[in-house]
Amino acid sequence: MTNPESFRKQAPSMAEAWTKWRASFRKQTCAGSDLIVSAAALTKGMRVLDLGSGVGEPAFALAAALGPTGHVVASDLVLEAMSALTEDAQRAGVSNIECVQANMQALPFGDASFDRVTGRLSLMFSPDLEVALSEVRRVLKPEGLAVFVVWGSPDQPLFANTLGVLAKHITLPIPPSGEPGPFRFAPSGSLHQALRAAGFRDVEERTCALSWPWPGPASEMWAAFSDLSGPAFGDELGQLSSERRAAIEREIIEALTAYEHDNVTDPQASVVLGIGRR
Ligand SMILES: C[S@@+](CC[C@H](N)C(=O)[O-])C[C@H]1O[C@@H](n2cnc3c(N)ncnc32)[C@H](O)[C@@H]1O
Repeated sequence: MTNPESFRKQAPSMAEAWTKWRASFRKQTCAGSDLIVSAAALTKGMRVLDLGSGVGEPAFALAAALGPTGHVVASDLVLEAMSALTEDAQRAGVSNIECVQANMQALPFGDASFDRVTGRLSLMFSPDLEVALSEVRRVLKPEGLAVFVVWGSPDQPLFANTLGVLAKHITLPIPPSGEPGPFRFAPSGSLHQALRAAGFRDVEERTCALSWPWPGPASEMWAAFSDLSGPAFGDELGQLSSERRAAIEREIIEALTAYEHDNVTDPQASVVLGIGRR
């Protein structure tokens, strides 16, 4: 699931899963948003565009950090993905976030309209990185910063104990590292190189180990992981007998249980932070 068409097709079922698990997922992933907020060096009154915001991060964290004088445009290819964001913002009285449907390949914004462009776990899905980054650069003001957090290695515990176990039993249709998909930027230096090639200056790339605490037992973390990434597993898992599937799931939960302490499951996360200046 990497190109815009497949994202749009899977959107309704994905939006349901993202909406269901969003509160726990937000707790699990908040260190990823904190990393973006701190790298973005925000100042009062800034306008920030977040790409692929889904159910709301890091858009909410950016809006909180900016305060009422700043403005965040949360955007996603899939409008349904942002329905929970809209609801949560209204319920919490957050008035400095606006949701806009936007494909990062063709941003519906004027040149130089943002001080910052951010994206958490979204840029790697771009089917044409050159086009997406040139759009990011176009909508940034001169001296504006692009700040992205993407997944690091697929061999990290979070994935080795989930996708890695599945891959022993079925063929997963997940593109290899380096290709559009979750692990596009796993090869060290690849995000740096892409930002440089797009014309950004003062480019930095850092691999960061983050706490990634699911606020519940390993079995629940797996239930959420599998709901949230279901379509990425392909059809093969669903075609297994229920006994075989249950045995694989037990193997995964057992592996994740090593990271469960006091009802919190934290396999940590290795992410890549990329920063570039227009
Ligand atoms: C893994 S989710 C990340 C969501 C959120 N930023 C987070 O960290 O929780 C990736 C998001 O990128 C969006 N996306 C995928 N391709 C896109 C594109 N071409 N343009 C804009 N958004 C896209 C998806 O719809 C999805 O909501």
